[in-house]
Amino acid sequence: MYTTDLSGKPAGQAEPPSEEPAELLARFEARVAADEFIEPKDWMPEAYRKTLVRQISQHAHSEVVGMLPEGNWITRAPSLKRKAVLLAKVQDEGGHGLYLYCAAETLGTSRQEMIDALHSGRAKYSTIFNYPTLSWADVGAIGWLVDGAAILNQVPLQRTSYGPYARAMVRVCKEESFHQRQGYEIMMTLAAGTPAQKRMAQDALDRWWWPSLMMFGPPDEASPNSAQSIRWRIKRETNDELRQKFVDITVPQAEAIGLQVPDPALCWNEARGHYDFGAIDWEEFRAVIRGEGPVAKERMAARTKAWEDGAWVRAAAEAHAVKQAARRQAEAAE
Ligand SMILES: [Fe+2]
Ligand SMILES: [Fe+2]
Repeated sequence: MYTTDLSGKPAGQAEPPSEEPAELLARFEARVAADEFIEPKDWMPEAYRKTLVRQISQHAHSEVVGMLPEGNWITRAPSLKRKAVLLAKVQDEGGHGLYLYCAAETLGTSRQEMIDALHSGRAKYSTIFNYPTLSWADVGAIGWLVDGAAILNQVPLQRTSYGPYARAMVRVCKEESFHQRQGYEIMMTLAAGTPAQKRMAQDALDRWWWPSLMMFGPPDEASPNSAQSIRWRIKRETNDELRQKFVDITVPQAEAIGLQVPDPALCWNEARGHYDFGAIDWEEFRAVIRGEGPVAKERMAARTKAWEDGAWVRAAAEAHAVKQAARRQAEAAE
């Protein structure tokens, strides 16, 4: 879809030096305001590039770290059908990571740099994946709530101002809606099952509800980058707007299958036309971001091990590429 070969100069330096940055900035802002896509070789402000690299690489890391909690249940899925579905879902997440790393690479940052930042703890990923998956119902809750929240975050990103990111999101969103439905279907089945199965579903909802609300990020007043990101159309809706949408969509889904959202303050507000909900424990959110999540260390150990175990594949691919280039050169010389 787009090139990953950006070994040359960053796009910004390719512009003729005679042009003033103020003019470039004005032209850039006008294009963004007109809903035009910004492409890799276009001039862009450094802060825009940095924000995108941070956001897209965090997103990519979240996709691949997100494979771990559910991957944990592949060998223990309750039927062959469930196993096949879960396997496909986890593979999709790996694919999402790849599209997103490619999109971030178009901004002039290498895959190696991004992976190093993840493994050294400098780069963040979604805090939700630092919670453990304790039962099969957690696989249902993740699909329903975590992928459900991801969809709400990602649908507006199909119109984000950076072209490669927006295009990656189109395919990602199609797959996320399958993920959400498979998760909800697991919860529906458990909730209509034996009392023990229903308890398992309720327990999963109890543990995943609040971390899912945290997935939309800090409240708007504590999110200083939000306004700029909205102005540059990197983001198109604020954290609190998206969180409210999620609550409004998800509460009736829980009711429909007889599960209770674990929030005593939750109630429909007729005047607002939205659900009111209780306060989020932002201290827990910050602790998980600091790497104090229940299984944060295990997650990073698993990622680092996967990267090290894959070293021979990267070495082999590189050796093969060198051999092929030499062969092409020899053929051209004939
Ligand atoms: Fe995904
Ligand atoms: Fe997903």
